[in-house]
Amino acid sequence: MMKKKVIVAVTGASGSIYAKVLFDQLLKLRDQIEAVGIVMSDNAKAVWQFELGNQDYNQFTAFNFYNKNDFNAPFASGSAKYDTMIIVPCSMGTLGRIAHGISNDLISRAADVVLKERRKLIAVVRDTPFSLIHINNMKMVTEAGGIICPANPSFYSLPQTIEEVAGTVVSRVLDLAGFEQESYRWQEK
Ligand SMILES: Cc1cc2nc3c(=O)[nH]c(=O)nc-3n(C[C@H](O)[C@H](O)[C@H](O)COP(=O)(O)O)c2cc1C
Repeated sequence: MMKKKVIVAVTGASGSIYAKVLFDQLLKLRDQIEAVGIVMSDNAKAVWQFELGNQDYNQFTAFNFYNKNDFNAPFASGSAKYDTMIIVPCSMGTLGRIAHGISNDLISRAADVVLKERRKLIAVVRDTPFSLIHINNMKMVTEAGGIICPANPSFYSLPQTIEEVAGTVVSRVLDLAGFEQESYRWQEK
């Protein structure tokens, strides 16, 4: 299996726990990974502080962190050949910027690159309810080849902790990204 080059963008939607659980899982999958580039918006850091009460993203030193305006990051260009981008959680603001090609920060530029290069974009969108603007933006990103994977947890695996609840979404994201991983599978022992 080809090792993956993955971009993870964290934005200021509610659900920093999804990013935290994804970071934890990516560390476990490191033998399938060549590089992980992380970019966080300002509001992603503020929401992480508010919801998780810490700045523990600083502890994931195995990953390469890039400033939100760093257009010198490798994945600001298609030539760097990052194969997958996961936006988790993905705010409606970031979704809208991507849908309309407004590449004014590293997150929206990297997504623009992934779509133009016909690589894999997974947007773990989070808001409720959705306006028609949100729905149209999700439609546009889907038509451009992106995957909308809403932050909708499932409960049929009987998760017991908040991390396990978040893990039901992260596990689907990792499947979509093409990782080999152990996960709860319905009707499999
Ligand atoms: C505690 C908190 C929770 C938020 N939750 C959401 C949310 O679930 N979805 C959303 O689209 N925006 C949410 N927002 C608003 C975004 O953070 C805001 O629109 C921001 O401009 C998004 O920019 P970004 O995508 O660059 O992080 C939230 C803001 C705060 C402070």
